[in-house]
Amino acid sequence: MKKTLLFAGQMARRWRTVGAIAPSGGSLARTMARKVGDLADGQVIIELGPGTGVITRALVERFPRNPILAVEINEPFITPLRKEFPSATVVQGCASQLAAHLARHGLAPDNVGAVVSGLPLLTLPGDLPQQILASVASVLRPGRPYVQFTYSERAWRRFEAVGFERLPSKRVWWNVPPAVVLHFVRSEPSPQ
Ligand SMILES: C[S@@+](CC[C@H](N)C(=O)[O-])C[C@H]1O[C@@H](n2cnc3c(N)ncnc32)[C@H](O)[C@@H]1O
Repeated sequence: MKKTLLFAGQMARRWRTVGAIAPSGGSLARTMARKVGDLADGQVIIELGPGTGVITRALVERFPRNPILAVEINEPFITPLRKEFPSATVVQGCASQLAAHLARHGLAPDNVGAVVSGLPLLTLPGDLPQQILASVASVLRPGRPYVQFTYSERAWRRFEAVGFERLPSKRVWWNVPPAVVLHFVRSEPSPQ
């Protein structure tokens, strides 16, 4: 209940940044975590926009031997996330600056196994969505996954996910509202 109120309060104050009427449900969170596939022990998972931590929980449960770096821009979410997930590194900052966040924590892109995002790219302003996609591409090695949910797969067509190959998506009806899990892998650089 406390989490729902926290989320609702942030939604009312910062609608375009929060971009959802409610936290994700458990079914959507578990589908996101499954789409990551298999990771080697120790590979870092970067989570973007953890909010009240529903997807963080699914990641911690599915990948107990993988460090999580969670990047959240809204300060009121930070302390509760740090309390609930002491094993995760929760960074207050923007997802468009991932290389800097990694460097600050002594991590290199070689260590990053996957990026999992609950960011509302459809409601973020200006070219921030493209900056975020470029930032994700900059920290993922070829073949590694970027998993993103959206409420409108159709509206997502306006983004050009440069540097990613798109794999089949998965609709999750059991969520308010129903969502689609988009699945990308970082593509190989094209030969010069
Ligand atoms: C749709 S909510 C998803 C929250 C949670 N992952 C879930 O599924 O319930 C979007 C989250 O992204 C965060 N966010 C928005 N823009 C961001 C940015 N540029 N960098 C990091 N986090 C951001 C919001 O504060 C919010 O917590």
